[in-house]
Amino acid sequence: MRILSGIQPSGALHIGNYFGMMRPAVALQTEGEALYFVADYHALTSLRDPEMLRANSRRVALDFLACGLNADRATLFRHSDVPQVTELAWILSTVAPMGLLERAHSYKDKLARGMSPNVGLFSYPILMAADILIYDSDVVPVGKDQKQHIEITRDLAVKMNETYGQIFKLPEPRIQPTTETVPGIDGQKMSKSYGNNIDIFGDEKEMRKRVMSIVTDSLAVDAPKDPATSTIFQLYSLVASKDETVDMRERFVKGGTGYGDFKKQLFEKLWEYFAPMRKRREEILKDKSYVDDVLARGAKRANEIANQVMDRVRKAVGLR
Ligand code: ADP
Ligand code: TRP
Repeated sequence: MRILSGIQPSGALHIGNYFGMMRPAVALQTEGEALYFVADYHALTSLRDPEMLRANSRRVALDFLACGLNADRATLFRHSDVPQVTELAWILSTVAPMGLLERAHSYKDKLARGMSPNVGLFSYPILMAADILIYDSDVVPVGKDQKQHIEITRDLAVKMNETYGQIFKLPEPRIQPTTETVPGIDGQKMSKSYGNNIDIFGDEKEMRKRVMSIVTDSLAVDAPKDPATSTIFQLYSLVASKDETVDMRERFVKGGTGYGDFKKQLFEKLWEYFAPMRKRREEILKDKSYVDDVLARGAKRANEIANQVMDRVRKAVGLR
């Protein structure tokens, strides 16, 4: 089984990325050949600072390693180290119906939030399909927001197979039901671009501040509170033990505890939960060339697979 996923280096990683994608990806690395990449080509649709793109790309790779990616088992690489993927994106675009892309939620959402509609943003799902198909991927661990992109990938694979014969495997999304959409401090989906994120590797003061600014209703301390609709409770249940979660639920329902106290408790747990990752990150940073070495090794392996698949594709469509 081949497992593949990518993450954009468009900012610091947050706990939504961790629970939605990184933790499942790390769990899957022992179940087959895992390939994970830093999607720097994708980040170009929104980030136009070359130094920042380079720095963010290394940092995302570092953070992924700190979060448990084992570079001896899994392949970690930079998107742009496999430029063949842009060739495949072009080939896929020649069979992609306009309507398929016009229906893509993520493009419509980005427009609604005022991003300028460049062609790259519009055709993003085609490049993402190429990312997946070029490695003959079977399983793609992602958060729920990416589900439609995997459906588009499957549609394009089917179109290619119908047109040119059996070229591509059809990949399956792997979405964790309990962490498919982690809420941000305003209760909406946590996202870098919504400014509602709690970062994994921010400093202590910053994380506390973000947690303390989680939006709540204005129920009095004594009033019983609803855990099911509370962002505090939802985040707490991701990082606390079963018993601790049951205990907080009871204290919500009983009344007598204010949101401020619940937030403090959440912050303590979050900080503790990510302590081993912070420690590993410090360790990795001691070896100045470690991240670059991992990425170089990853690029080599990713290219081997991509070259084989591209030979098949070029032959099938009549190039060379
Ligand atoms: P962002 O929305 O912050 O820009 P990305 O689009 O870079 O995040 O997402 C990287 C990965 O993390 C994707 O697989 C995405 O589904 C997952 N992810 C992002 N935000 C969340 C969230 N709030 N809950 C669950 N998964 C998420
Ligand atoms: N679109 C994904 C995101 O914004 C990142 C991504 C790019 C990806 N290519 C991919 C994820 C291929 C899985 C597989 O989060």
